[in-house]
Amino acid sequence: MNYTNVLNNRVEQHGVKLAEIKKLSKKFKEIHRKIEEDTRSGKLGFRKLPYNTKLVPEILSLAERYRYKYNNFVVIGIGGSALGNIAIQQALHHSCWNMLSKEERKGWLRLFVLDNVDPVFIKDILDIIDVRETVFNIISKAGTTAECLANFFVLLKELKKCYKKEDLDKFKQHIIITTGPEKGFLRELVNKEGYTSFVIEDNVVGRFSVLSPVGLVSAAFTGVDIKMLLRGAREIDTLCSKNDSLFNNIAGMYAVLQYLLYQKGKHISVMLPYSNNLYYLADWFRQLWAESLGKKYNLNNQIVNVGPTPIKALGVTDQHSQLQLYIEGPYDKVVTFLSLEKYSVKVDIPLFYDHYLGGKTLNQLIKAEEEATRLALTKNLRPNLTISIPEISPYYLGQLFQFFELAAAYAGELFEINPFDQPGVVLGKELTYALMARPGYEKQKNIIEREIEKMKFSKYIV
Ligand code: PA5
Repeated sequence: MNYTNVLNNRVEQHGVKLAEIKKLSKKFKEIHRKIEEDTRSGKLGFRKLPYNTKLVPEILSLAERYRYKYNNFVVIGIGGSALGNIAIQQALHHSCWNMLSKEERKGWLRLFVLDNVDPVFIKDILDIIDVRETVFNIISKAGTTAECLANFFVLLKELKKCYKKEDLDKFKQHIIITTGPEKGFLRELVNKEGYTSFVIEDNVVGRFSVLSPVGLVSAAFTGVDIKMLLRGAREIDTLCSKNDSLFNNIAGMYAVLQYLLYQKGKHISVMLPYSNNLYYLADWFRQLWAESLGKKYNLNNQIVNVGPTPIKALGVTDQHSQLQLYIEGPYDKVVTFLSLEKYSVKVDIPLFYDHYLGGKTLNQLIKAEEEATRLALTKNLRPNLTISIPEISPYYLGQLFQFFELAAAYAGELFEINPFDQPGVVLGKELTYALMARPGYEKQKNIIEREIEKMKFSKYIV
């Protein structure tokens, strides 16, 4: 991570002073100790995931058994139970993976992630998959999330149409349920009906769960080397765990810089990968950062309404969409470049019409644009930093996941909020339960319906 361009000698009053970082390095030692203690006491389940290699053989053997039997893998989940799956798929596979033949996919499955209840979206997926050739992985830690269950039931109906009662065992093979260990509708269903299942431990929070069965199962079914994913995560985790010195702790430094810049009014944090493969990692990060750090109350129960707004952008595409704003708009942003040292292929630009681009490569062009953007931002006093990885691989992706998760944990301590809860999301879930007439929510239903009705008859509608 190169953070030169967030320092005040590069971006003047919009930057961070070295003295400010140094001042926080003492506090960081305390934060580091607290996070390590919370890890040891079992509070921070995500820290243990990269070391939990016992699960790997079970997942791999299941994936291998199903590999040639089925063609599609459908994840049904939302938020932390979906975004990591998409990020892995987009990062590590061919951009048009689902359009490749089974042979080109070396027998591995196509992946679809149903993370919305838009009826058109669900119908479109149903139009193109043959449910008899499909494994459905229903993922919900709570096991009660309305979106997840509704989509599950829609697909269950389609699946049931294909089997007679006596083929119950064959039908069950299509379903894998990943949910909490004890409570919730899905766990009860597993206990009652005996579906194949994986556990999301209580101490693993949704958006920190990509390296649990939540993300690993779909990754394995599409042929991702999940051992390397965990190894990468383990290495970054060990490195940070060993270093309470801020200047040697990459995740700590990222958290501290983001925090200091937030204090200077840089309330927007842009994640800018120069790689289509990493665009959905930026999407995953967006949830991690927003849901973990956007909080009403601090740890002392005071109202603080704090939290950076994460934005995802794509280099070079968004240079022709967002960059104008980043360079000339308000001084309210910090940009994180996600930079690739080596792209997996090289594409030559053929020489036509004596044009200067001819004879160069797309690789040179994307790099030049990245450098140019970095310079343009810096010259315009816009703080930016660069996280580089040598190449995209399961190993480096694992590093990135654990790096950002640890950074979110450290940042939570700096902002003095709890990064592991999400009361705002829970409120939305509860209101939905009430509106959908979940038993026990009758009273709330009437009140909410009246409130919604009032909004509809507002005079401020044109
Ligand atoms: O990070 C979180 O906790 C949330 O985004 C959840 O992952 C999301 O709300 C889905 O919850 P669940 O997995 O319980 O269905």
